[in-house]
Amino acid sequence: MGSATRAADDGNVEAGHLTDATIRETLRGVHYPGLTRDLVSFGMVKHVAVCDGRVKVRLGLRTEDATIPSKLQAAVENALRPLGATSVAIEIVPPDGGGVPFRRTAADPWADQVRLASVRHTVAVGAGKGGVGKSTVAANVALALAREGLRVGLLDADIYGPSLPILLGIEDGAARVRMTPEKLILPLESHGLPLVSFGFFLGEQSPAIWRGPMVSKAVKQFARGVAWPDLDVLVVDLPPGTGDIPLSLAQAVALSGAVVVSQPPRVASAEARKAIDMFRTLEVPVLGIVENMTGPFGAGTGRTLSHDVGVPFLGAIPFDPEVVRECDLGTPTVVVRPESEVGRAFGAVARGFAEPLGWRYEPAADLSLSPALHRPEER
Ligand SMILES: Nc1ncnc2c1ncn2[C@@H]1O[C@H](COP(=O)(O)OP(=O)(O)O)[C@@H](O)[C@H]1O
Ligand SMILES: [Mg+2]
Repeated sequence: MGSATRAADDGNVEAGHLTDATIRETLRGVHYPGLTRDLVSFGMVKHVAVCDGRVKVRLGLRTEDATIPSKLQAAVENALRPLGATSVAIEIVPPDGGGVPFRRTAADPWADQVRLASVRHTVAVGAGKGGVGKSTVAANVALALAREGLRVGLLDADIYGPSLPILLGIEDGAARVRMTPEKLILPLESHGLPLVSFGFFLGEQSPAIWRGPMVSKAVKQFARGVAWPDLDVLVVDLPPGTGDIPLSLAQAVALSGAVVVSQPPRVASAEARKAIDMFRTLEVPVLGIVENMTGPFGAGTGRTLSHDVGVPFLGAIPFDPEVVRECDLGTPTVVVRPESEVGRAFGAVARGFAEPLGWRYEPAADLSLSPALHRPEER
C-alpha cells in the first residue's frame, strides 16, 4: 500500500490501486480543515466503499461550521483523484454511538481511555493562541472554585511553556517532586491546591525537539500517572492551539468538558473558534468561553463568539496591570485581591464553570451570608 501512495505521487495510478486500504492510507494525508491532524488519526473515517472508479467515504464528525463539509469534499476528492477515482462522494454522519463517545476496538486510539478514579470531573482549559492568559485564568478559576468549597487540583500539561509553577509560587518543583512506590507522581501543594506540572520534569531535554509520538506518550503517562487526592474538579492547563496534546489528553482520560479562553482582538477570537471546533471534533463538550484582558484591546468578541457557536459566555476578565505582577510573584489575584474587580470576575467565571458540572449557585437561607455553590447530591 506504500507503493500505491508513491505511485499516486507520480500521478500515474491504475484504477486497480483504488482499494479500501489505499484509500484509507491516502486519507492519512488529509487534514481536518484548519487543524493539524488528519481524518484517520481522528478516527473520523467510518466506512469506505469503492466500485470501479467511484468512491464513497463516510465520515463521522460533528461541526457547527457550515463550510466544513464542502472543504472536506474538496480535500478528499483532491487526494483520491490521483489514485484513479472518477467520482468521490463523502457522507457526514454523527460520530459513533449516539452518546457513547467512541467505539472501543483494539486498533482504536481511544480504546484505552480511562476515567481518573479519584477525580470527579476533568476539565481542560484551552486557547487558540498563546499569551491570552489561559494559564492565569486556569489558576485563578481553580483557586476561586476552591474558595467555594470544591476540592480542586491543577495539571499543567503545557509541555512547551509550563507556567503554573511560577503563577502559584512553586520555584523548586523539580527538586521537590516525589513518586509513590507504585511510580505515581505525588502532587505538590500551593495555596491549598495540589499541582503537577510538566515543568517539574523537563530538565535538560528540550521539548522543542519532541516528536509527535513522544509527546503523545508523555501526555498519556502524565495524565494518568498522578496520585491525585479525591477531587471534585481537576483543571488541566493545555498548550495553546490545536496540536497533538489536546488529542492525546482526550484519548488518555475522559474529559467532562473544556473551557476556551479568548481575548478581545478578532484574531484571538478567530483562533479560539478553531479550538472550540477541535474540542467538538474530539467530542469534548465546550462548557464556555472566557474573554480575558477586556479593556485596552477592546471588548465583546468573546460574547459574539459564544453567540455564533452556541456556547455559554462565562464572563469577561478586565485587563489589570497588577495581575502581571501577581503572576510573576506567584501570588494569584484570587488569593491576594479576591474583592478586586478582577478577583470578582474570576469568581463569576468559576461559578459559570461549576454549574454545567452540576453545582448550583443558590442564595443562602440567612441573608447575611453570601450565596454558595451546592454540590449536586446535597440538593
Ligand atoms: N486580566 C489580565 N490583566 C493583565 N494581565 C494579564 C491578565 N491575564 C493574564 N495577564 C498576563 O498576560 C501574560 C500571559 O498570561 P498567561 O496566563 O501566561 O497566558 P497563556 O497561558 O495564554 O500563554 C502574563 O504576563 C499574565 O500575567
Ligand atoms: Mg500558559
